[in-house]
Amino acid sequence: MAKTQTLYFCQNCGAQSVKWMGRCSSCGEWNSLVEEVVQKESSKKGIASTFKSEHNKPLKLADIPAEDETNRINTENQELNRVLGGGLVAGSVVLVGGEPGIGKSTLLLQFALQLKHKKFLYISGEESARQISMRAERTGSPNDNCYILTETKTQDIFLHIQTLQPEILIVDSIQTLTTDLIESSAGSISQIRECAAEFQKFAKLTNVPVFLIGHITKDGAIAGPKILEHMVDVVLQFEGDRNYGYRILRSVKNRFGSTSELGIFEMSDKGLREVSNPSEILLSQRDDKLSGTAIASTLEGLRPMLIEIQALVGTAAYGTPQRSSTGFELRRLGMLLAVLEKRCGFRLGSKDVFLNIAGGIRVDDPAIDLAVICAILSSNEDIALSPKYCFAAEVGLTGEIRPINRIEQRIAEADKLGFEKIFISKYNAKGIDVKKYSIEIQYVKTVVEIFKQLF
Ligand code: TYD
Ligand code: MG
Repeated sequence: MAKTQTLYFCQNCGAQSVKWMGRCSSCGEWNSLVEEVVQKESSKKGIASTFKSEHNKPLKLADIPAEDETNRINTENQELNRVLGGGLVAGSVVLVGGEPGIGKSTLLLQFALQLKHKKFLYISGEESARQISMRAERTGSPNDNCYILTETKTQDIFLHIQTLQPEILIVDSIQTLTTDLIESSAGSISQIRECAAEFQKFAKLTNVPVFLIGHITKDGAIAGPKILEHMVDVVLQFEGDRNYGYRILRSVKNRFGSTSELGIFEMSDKGLREVSNPSEILLSQRDDKLSGTAIASTLEGLRPMLIEIQALVGTAAYGTPQRSSTGFELRRLGMLLAVLEKRCGFRLGSKDVFLNIAGGIRVDDPAIDLAVICAILSSNEDIALSPKYCFAAEVGLTGEIRPINRIEQRIAEADKLGFEKIFISKYNAKGIDVKKYSIEIQYVKTVVEIFKQLF
C-alpha cells in the first residue's frame, strides 16, 4: 500500500509545512500555502538509478582536473556566449526565465538550429511537434541534429535521453513537467522542485548542459520558486517591452562568470537577431534638433553603449508637481532635481518633470547623471543640444561633476560612433591619452559650469 502524505507548500518561497497557515512562516507572504500530495513510494525509481556515476568517493582537490575555461561550448551566438560568461559550461543547468510571449522558446529553438555539430534534444510540454517545426522553418535553416520530443513525464524523458544520447538538452518548460515520484499536479511547487532536481542530477552525472525554460509570475519572479534559482548554475532573465522589437537577455546568477553582462536581440518576423552594436537601436534615429534630449555613454557589464535620455519639464497643472521616470530610478531623479534647485538656482520645484530612457531600457549606471541633468536643463531652457555631444559623469550632492570608472572605454565608444564632443569630469582627466581619439574631450567640474558652456 502506497503511503500518501500531503504537505502544504508556500507558492512564493517553496517552504513546506505540515499544517495550513494563513501566513508563510518563512517568507511572510499571506495566503500562499497550498496543499500538495507527496507520495513516498520506494518502488518508483528516480533518475539516480538510470544514470549511475562511477566515481563517487572523496577525492583530493588537487587530483580533480579543473574544468578548463577554454573548454566551454561556443554557442555560435555572441550574445548568448556573453551572458553565459564566455560560452556554455559542460554539465551546467541554465534557467531561462521570462514573461509569456517574450521569445524564450524562439531563442532556444534558434540556438538549437544554429549549432549544427551538436545533438540537441528539445523537450516541449507546451507546443506540439508540428508547431515547433513551423516555427523552426520560419526562424532558421534546418538542423539534422535537432530532435524534438513532446513528453512531460520525466521518467519517460530520461528513457528517450538514454537511447538518443543528446549533447545539449532544452526543456520547455519546467512548469509543464511531472515526475512519478510526486503526486501533485504539474506546475505545483513540489513538482517543479523535484523535476528540476532530476535534471540537475542528470546534468551533473552526464556532463550534458541543460536549459530549463521557466515562466515568470506577475511580480517578475520565476514562477515556482526561489529554490529553483538556488538549484541551477545560471539564471538568465529574458525581458523587454513588448511594444519594442528588441529583447534583453540578462544574467541574474552565474556560477561561471559575471552577472553584469547583457545580451541584446531584436525580434523580427524571422525570429531573433543578435544586436552586436546596441547603440544603433538605443539612439533614436533623427536629424532635426529637439530640446530635452541628451546622449549618455554608459556601460552594461563590460560593454559600452550610448543611450538617449529624454526629459520634459513643464509647468505643473495641479498643485503637486509630478515626477515620473522610466528606466531611471525615481529617487535619483529627485536628488538630481534637488541639486539643480539648490546649487544652481533653477526653480524646478513647481514644475512637472518626466524622464525617459529611450528604447525602454533600464540603467543603473551613475555615469548617466550628467546626461540626465543636461536633458532636463535643455527641456527647461527649450534649447536643443547638439546631437553630436555626449556625456559621461556622475553628479554629486554638492553639484560637483564626479569621475567614473572605465572612462577610456566610454570615450572610445563615443568616438567610434562619430560623436564630436564628450563631456566628462575634470577628475577623470588623468591618464587619458587625448591624441588617441578624434573626439574632443571637454572637462567640467560643476553643474553650473556645464550650464554656462551649453546654454
Ligand atoms: P515565444 O518564443 O513563443 O515566447 P515564449 O516562449 O517566451 O512564450 O515567442 C512568441 C512571440 O514572438 C510571439 O508573440 C510572436 C513573436 N515572434 C516573432 O515576432 N517572430 C518570429 O519569428 C517568432 C518565431 C516569434
Ligand atoms: Mg514558449
